[in-house]
Amino acid sequence: MKDRLEEIRVEALKTIDAAQDLAEVEQLRVKYLGRKGLLTEVLRGLAQASAEERPALGKAANDVKLAIAESLDNKKVQLSASQEASAARTERLDLSLPGRKPLRGHKHPVMRVAEEIIDIFTQLGFQVATGPDVETEYYNFDSLNTPEDHPARDLHDTFFVKPGVVLRTHTSPVQMRVMERTQPPVAVIAPGRVYRVDQDASHSPMFYQIEGLLVDKGITFADLKGVLMLFIHRYFGPETQLRFRPHYFPFTEPSAEADISCTVCAGKGCRVCKHSGWLEILGCGMVHPEVFKYANYDYETYTGFAFGLGVERIAMLTHAISSIHYLYENDLRFLEQF
Ligand code: DAH
Repeated sequence: MKDRLEEIRVEALKTIDAAQDLAEVEQLRVKYLGRKGLLTEVLRGLAQASAEERPALGKAANDVKLAIAESLDNKKVQLSASQEASAARTERLDLSLPGRKPLRGHKHPVMRVAEEIIDIFTQLGFQVATGPDVETEYYNFDSLNTPEDHPARDLHDTFFVKPGVVLRTHTSPVQMRVMERTQPPVAVIAPGRVYRVDQDASHSPMFYQIEGLLVDKGITFADLKGVLMLFIHRYFGPETQLRFRPHYFPFTEPSAEADISCTVCAGKGCRVCKHSGWLEILGCGMVHPEVFKYANYDYETYTGFAFGLGVERIAMLTHAISSIHYLYENDLRFLEQF
């Protein structure tokens, strides 16, 4: 067995020395040291050796193994060095090649749409206001003329944080927070996240709204119509039509939902507008006197309008997106299209 070991050592070192490239070195490693390699085979034979012989044979086998491993390592280093040297001689650095572009992030489509909408209103003189996502029931409901037992509370499937505290179900509470600290005239726009226990193709438990509020002496529904019309024309284009449908909200009177002529079929009727020619885009109305009472505004002197729109819905209309969930799956194949 000793002789066989010596034989393997001599042969291995010779062939390794003659190896031409790294692939060949790897082949030799497998041939001698691999799980089915020559050396492993010999080591298996150790089991048959007598107890006196075994330690010496074991040591000899190990020495051979180390010698082969070292020689493989040396050969590898030597070959890679000469490969690099020859590459340096034959390859040229092309300074005219364009650089590699680093991957760049960009704004999420919902944020882009929100910013475009906010821009239009700030150009009209509205100021941006914000409020907390975790809101008291007082601001989210009571002060907006929606008391505890009011059926309109059921329309919002509310996430409760603890008794009296909710994740806001709409951005309307910002109206009250602004009025509490400002005297009229007031013209604000309040973008932010809102939350509802709701999930299907057009609803997500978290979504964005933009709230608008304008209060001054002599504000009428005609002002609401004028401002919304201007917004619609700037955002969707001057050919877009606007219509109001009577509706109910506790915090406005009268209240309406506003529709625009379908941006896909221009009102002719298609799948997107469910063949009605119209798309609902926001809720609005004249601020309810009860709401002014909570704000300590004199409702004999001041009137105002308010509206609230869903940003995802507008983003979906703008970019023909069929499900709100595409917006929140963070799939780069989707997001990179914007
Ligand atoms: N807060 C309402 C909602 O989330 C939307 C809304 C309707 C806001 C009428 C308003 C308004 O300011 O006047 O459904």
